[in-house]
Amino acid sequence: MIIRREMAEDTAAIRQVIRAAFGGDDEADLVDRLRADGDLMLSLVADQDGQVVGHVGFSRLSITDGSQSTPGVSLAPVAVLPEKQRKGVGRALIEAGHDQLRHAGEMVVFVLGDPAYYSRFGYSADGTSAFDCAYVGPYFQWLRLSPLAPLAGTIAYAPAFGGSG
Ligand SMILES: CC(C)(COP(=O)(O)OP(=O)(O)OC[C@H]1O[C@@H](n2cnc3c(N)ncnc32)[C@H](O)[C@@H]1OP(=O)(O)O)[C@@H](O)C(=O)NCCC(=O)NCCS
Repeated sequence: MIIRREMAEDTAAIRQVIRAAFGGDDEADLVDRLRADGDLMLSLVADQDGQVVGHVGFSRLSITDGSQSTPGVSLAPVAVLPEKQRKGVGRALIEAGHDQLRHAGEMVVFVLGDPAYYSRFGYSADGTSAFDCAYVGPYFQWLRLSPLAPLAGTIAYAPAFGGSG
């Protein structure tokens, strides 16, 4: 299996993987909208012998504190074909994403999801209540990639999220 950036010809397969993992269209539609809007800053696929078996998307968000606005990243969604789950594909996708984001100088990643899963990658909800965001709560977690990441502010997600962030 290799983890690589999505290519134009992967979009249908990515949709299929996301629909199979989530059992519906919502998350696949989100990825399509993010891509169409140019907000899908990093989109990785797990490619097993030419078959896309997993996908993770990262999109741009902004953190505004007073007159200071800082770019951040949202991890959403991550999906693995049901028959390929629990084999480390999700981990490989998320860790490759973090490596690339770190390399690109990104400072912070936010995720909305099960803490039992995301804590494996260093995400925590500790300190996130200092942010003004509709998602704040136990499922709203962050991973600081840099000590310079902001500690508070208003978070604005990409428009594809529907303005609920
Ligand atoms: C979540 C998901 C991407 C993980 O992919 P994966 O390839 O199975 O993940 P890994 O193999 O790296 O890790 C699997 C481990 O995570 C655990 N895990 C998976 N989903 C979990 C969850 N929601 N909460 C807690 N643990 C979870 C599994 O129990 C497994 O644990 P084990 O290694 O101790 O057996 C995959 O299960 C999936 O596509 N789920 C449906 C879509 C979804 O819920 N996405 C996340 C929300 S954005």
